[in-house]
Amino acid sequence: IGKEIIHKPTVTSTQVVAHQAARDNSPHGTVVIADEQSSGRGRMERVWHSKKGKGVWMSIILRPNIPPYMAPQLTLMTATAIAEVLDQYDGIQPNIKWPNDILIQNKKVAGILTEMQAEQDRIQYVVVGIGLNVNQDNTEIPDAIHYRATSLKMETEKEWPIIELVQKILEGLEKEYESFLKKGFGDVKSKWENYGFRIGEMISLHSGTEKKEAVFLGIAEDGALLIESSKGEAEKIYSAEIDWFV
Ligand code: BTN
Repeated sequence: IGKEIIHKPTVTSTQVVAHQAARDNSPHGTVVIADEQSSGRGRMERVWHSKKGKGVWMSIILRPNIPPYMAPQLTLMTATAIAEVLDQYDGIQPNIKWPNDILIQNKKVAGILTEMQAEQDRIQYVVVGIGLNVNQDNTEIPDAIHYRATSLKMETEKEWPIIELVQKILEGLEKEYESFLKKGFGDVKSKWENYGFRIGEMISLHSGTEKKEAVFLGIAEDGALLIESSKGEAEKIYSAEIDWFV
């Protein structure tokens, strides 16, 4: 991962560039990185603010030989790798909000957007997009998301070296990826759970207009979220969002 790097000063979204590169047969592990994105995108059609030099904005092309239903596990693996990198730094205690938001002190510092191209039962490629807020000040975070967004600088009151973070993330990702292919999801699951946000607590979830409140038990062998059902059994949830407030 990271043997081929496509670096661009400005792009609409590194996801768009990575999809094109993948269609043009860029190899597994190709990284597309930009200083700035004019229309960075997040999950659920949201925007991702990506100002010049303020964060890590990159997309990685993976060509794993796994069935499409396992693709979400790659996202959990990526979140785990990023949490482990941040954990190496003094004074930073990362958490992961299911499935893949990285939090510091209950605020989001990084997000992951995984997009897969599959045909029948084969993955052609996966683009894993990583957005990590690094050097934004308080005033550079839009008001509407202030209560739930942060940057490394805001948490530590110092500037951070973006290139070093990129290198560490790519190294960490490579290690996790190799181990995931060799040993499966089990290892990732327990590491993810070490960082899991609100495991054992009451959470509120929604998916479309459906809303639920339940105790968050952890994640399943396939990456699903496990909650305690009204009958006291473990229930798997594949697609939902955990609300910020119970
Ligand atoms: C989320 O939490 O909603 C996911 C955010 C993903 C943002 C990154 S920044 C690099 C890549 N390019 C994009 O347009 N989005 C991802």
